[in-house]
Amino acid sequence: MLIKRFVTASLVLLFVGAISADSYGASSRELCASSAKEFQKINRLKGYFPEELSDADYQTIQQAGATIKGNEEERIKSANVDANTRSLSKLVAIHAGHIEDRAKGDKVGLIEDVGHSYRFLFLSCRSCHQIYQTEAGLAP
Ligand code: HEC
Repeated sequence: MLIKRFVTASLVLLFVGAISADSYGASSRELCASSAKEFQKINRLKGYFPEELSDADYQTIQQAGATIKGNEEERIKSANVDANTRSLSKLVAIHAGHIEDRAKGDKVGLIEDVGHSYRFLFLSCRSCHQIYQTEAGLAP
């Protein structure tokens, strides 16, 4: 009788555990897949001359920066994040935030400034992959 209760309790615990592990939100892969899409948008748009870009393009850049920043904020919140990972995520969030903010500002020099922040963003994404995903050959 006691054994049966014990087994039932364990099963319930396992089930609850599985659900709460899931509710930590998106996995690292999902966050990165989302960021990678936005990263490519910035990469593409920063290659244009300012006179070729429309307001919608600047908005795309702004939203891309915001989404990447949000993804890192989400990653930091997940359960098994150590201090090193957190620093790397913050680095990405800072440079993505610079892109987001700059895209709202004065159009003069905007795309050059975004290009500048993009290089830092690239290196920040890359630093995490270089440390934790050395075999994956990811770009960045
Ligand atoms: C804090 C660490 C960290 C940061 C920062 C980070 N990544 Fe990742 N990235 C990972 C890990 C871990 C994986 C492997 C996930 C897996 O396969 O489970 C990954 C995988 C990827 C992948 C492959 C996804 C797939 O579907 O296989 C891409 C693309 C990627 N990252 C892009 C980016 C971009 C772009 C940035 C910056 C905006 C970034 N990552 C920032 C840790 C990070």
